[in-house]
Amino acid sequence: MNDRPSLQQVEEVRASAARELDAAPDIQSLDEWRIAYLGRGGRLTRILRELGGLPPDERRAVGSAANSAKSALEEDLEVRRRELHRAQASANLLAERIDVTLPGRPTPHGRLHPITETIREITEVFVSMGFGVEEGPEVELDRYNFDMLNIPKEHPARDMWDTLWIDHVDEDGSRPMLLRTHTSPMQARIMETTEPPVRVVVPGKAFRYEATDATHEWHFHQVEGLAVDEGITFSDLKGALFEFARRIFGEERRVRFRCDFFPFVEPGVDMAIDCFKCGGSGCRICGGAGWIEILGAGMVHPSVLEGVGYDSQKYTGFAFGMGVERICMLRRGIDDIRLFYSNDLRFLRQF
Ligand code: DAH
Repeated sequence: MNDRPSLQQVEEVRASAARELDAAPDIQSLDEWRIAYLGRGGRLTRILRELGGLPPDERRAVGSAANSAKSALEEDLEVRRRELHRAQASANLLAERIDVTLPGRPTPHGRLHPITETIREITEVFVSMGFGVEEGPEVELDRYNFDMLNIPKEHPARDMWDTLWIDHVDEDGSRPMLLRTHTSPMQARIMETTEPPVRVVVPGKAFRYEATDATHEWHFHQVEGLAVDEGITFSDLKGALFEFARRIFGEERRVRFRCDFFPFVEPGVDMAIDCFKCGGSGCRICGGAGWIEILGAGMVHPSVLEGVGYDSQKYTGFAFGMGVERICMLRRGIDDIRLFYSNDLRFLRQF
């Protein structure tokens, strides 16, 4: 290289600097490049430093070229630095990329327990007929479970239900409590706090002190029903329960009412449907009888109405109560009530 700075030299330095800058592989190498051209002993710096040895004319021309080369290179350096930065960033992104296309782990689908489902279907039928839905306490006072339902203490009718007594009495220390043996206590609770007309169904749990077998559980579900108003007759009971039977067990169902005894109704009945399996000729489901009993019902006893402060001369009503497990077992062909509560998913998944 010629020691005397010249325009040609500036041009050469500039061209080779641009080439090398283009070829710089990474940000670190930019430093070496800067030192080589623009550093204190860099090639362009040296030209600028040696301008003093030139005649004035040449000095002006070469100086101006060298200065603009300097700022051009500084600018090129910044451009290249940004370029390399971007390249580095996208290389990093690629390297750290997460594959989000992996298939997710399937979430198992839950479903309603067959008893919950049956309760909803039963209540829906009555709701469509204008009944409301209420729930009540599972731990009950014996007053509501028995006394208010026309079952006084020491009355033999109490033996109809094997009661689970609670080892606890309420605040005033005098009223024993129990796990309700049926949902009927809600009849008294509802009437006590509302004036007629009353139209309500009460789904809920009931409990009995009972050895379990294929048709008995110590806890189970019932749906209670109550309608009280002026002029309600046994025909209303029949109409409502007939409609219920057809909606749950099929349009072509027939129903049968026979006298039965429940202390809180008079007259009391049991309602049966003709067997939906054999149509009445007798089979395994109906035990050969052709009829299947599905609920107890009756006209609300005047003593029960009077007990909650209703005028039994003015108001009449009907009530009914059914076992949800039994209805579900009949519809689904399940032959052991204990299967509902054994937590066996193989059983529950079938429905
Ligand atoms: N509570 C009765 C039972 O558990 C069923 C029942 C019968 C309810 C007649 C009623 C009714 O409301 O009128 O055996």
